[in-house]
Amino acid sequence: MEKKITIDYSFTHPFINEVAIESYKDEALKAMETLMKGNGAGNDFIGWRNLPDNTLSSDEFKKIIEVGNEIYKNADLLICVGIGGSYLGSKAVTEALLHPFHNSLQKDKRNGPRILFAGQNISGTWLEAIIAEIESSESVYINNISKSGTTTEPGVAFRYIKNAMEKKYGKIDAAKRIIATTDAKKGALRKLATNEGYRTFVIPDDVGGRFSVLTPVGLLPIASVGIDIQKLLQGAKYASEYCKEKDFSTNPALVYATIRNLLLKEGYHTEILVNYEPGFHFLSEWWKQLFGESEGKDGKGIFPAAVDFTTDLHSMGQWIQDGQRFIFETVLNVGKPLSELTVVSDKEDLDGLEFLSGKSYDEINKKAQLGTLIAHYDGKVPNLIINIPELNEFFLGQLLFVFEQACGISGYLLGVNPFDQPGVEAYKKNMFALLNKPGEENAKNKLSLDEKMKKLPSGKVTK
Ligand code: PA5
Repeated sequence: MEKKITIDYSFTHPFINEVAIESYKDEALKAMETLMKGNGAGNDFIGWRNLPDNTLSSDEFKKIIEVGNEIYKNADLLICVGIGGSYLGSKAVTEALLHPFHNSLQKDKRNGPRILFAGQNISGTWLEAIIAEIESSESVYINNISKSGTTTEPGVAFRYIKNAMEKKYGKIDAAKRIIATTDAKKGALRKLATNEGYRTFVIPDDVGGRFSVLTPVGLLPIASVGIDIQKLLQGAKYASEYCKEKDFSTNPALVYATIRNLLLKEGYHTEILVNYEPGFHFLSEWWKQLFGESEGKDGKGIFPAAVDFTTDLHSMGQWIQDGQRFIFETVLNVGKPLSELTVVSDKEDLDGLEFLSGKSYDEINKKAQLGTLIAHYDGKVPNLIINIPELNEFFLGQLLFVFEQACGISGYLLGVNPFDQPGVEAYKKNMFALLNKPGEENAKNKLSLDEKMKKLPSGKVTK
C-alpha cells in the first residue's frame, strides 16, 4: 500500500496547462524556500514545522500521554473549552477517527470518555446543555484551552463551567479535574491556573492557533479518547520530510499550493473541499480556518468552502454542476475504508436497487465519487484529488502536516503573511463597544462605532 499522501491534478487540465505550471514552478519553489528558511512575513510563527520531530522526544509529550491516560481511564466526560485554533484541531481528529456515534455508545462499548466542546460560541442554550451534562455525568474532566486566555467565548463559558465543577466536586477536587492549556508565562488563563492549582500544558510561543493541532492544544484531547497520538505525530513527521522535497512529483504540499494559486489566477477564487466520509466534516472546518484565516487578507485569498458528499449532492450538487463557474473542488479520496459492509439482497426489488446487492458500500461510494468527478469536470469544475491511503492516525497526521505546509507556501505565493489574523479584531472591537467594556481605548471605539451606526442603512424592513 502507498505510504504517502499523494495529489492528482490531472483534472485541473485544461483549465490550467503544463506550460503555465512549468513557468510558475520557480515562484512556487521560492515561496517554499522562504518558508523553509524562515525569512518570510510572520516568521516568528512557523514553529509548527518542527513540532512532529520535537514533540515526539519531549517531556511534554510524556506528560500528555500520562494525563491523557488518566482522563481515558477515569473520565466519563471530557469537555474541551476553546474556539478557533484552540478547538478545531481536536474536533477534526476525534470526529475522523472515533466511532461515528462515540458519545452515544454505552460506557463498556466506548473507547474512553464522551467528548464535548464548549466555548466555541456564545450561546447560552449550548452552555446550559453542557452544564446539564456536567451535573449528570459521573466523572468529568475539563480541558480549558486558550493561548491568550482572554478570548471572550471560552472565557465566559469557563466561568460557568468552573462554578458547576466546584459545585459538583468541591473547589479542591474540581481543581484536580481541570487542566489548562495556555501560554507558558503570559495571559489570564496562566494566572488563573496558577492561582487555582490547575495542571497546565504549554502552547509554544511560535505556533499560532490554527497551526496548533500537534501541540498539547490538540494532542491532549485526542489522547484522552484513546487515539494514538504517537502514530499521529509519526505520520506528521514522515510528511514533514517529504514536504521538504523540491521535486514536484514527490511533494504534495508544493503541488497543492502551486495548482490552487494557478487556478486562482484563472479566476477560480472559491475552493470546495469535498469528502465522502462523514467523519471528515470537521476536518473540513479545520481546513477552512487554516486557509481562510491564513490567506483571506489585503483583499486577496481563495474562499474556502466545503461539502459532505454524497449528502450534499442532494443540496449543493445542482449548483456545483451548473452554477456560475468560479469554483474548483479538492476531493479527499480515502483508499481503504473502515468498514467492508455489503448491500443485502431483497428479491422483491421494489426500490430497483437489487443490482447493487453483494456490492460493498465502499465500492458504491467510490463509484459515486468517480461519477461525480466526471460530471463536475464535464461541467467545467477543475478537480484536485488528495489520496489518503487509509483512514488512521498515521495518514491523518500526514494530511494535517501536508495542509499546513501547503498553506504556508500558498500564502507566500499569494503575497500575504499567512501567519497573522488582524481582521478578526474588528468584530471584537464593535462587540466590546456595544457591551460598554470599561477602558479608555474602548471609549474611543465606542465613539467611532456610534458614528458608523449613524450611517447604517435603515427602514427597509418588510411589514
Ligand atoms: O488561529 C488563531 O489564532 C485563532 O483561531 C485562535 O486560535 C482563536 O481565536 C482562539 O484564541 P485563544 O487560543 O487565544 O483563545
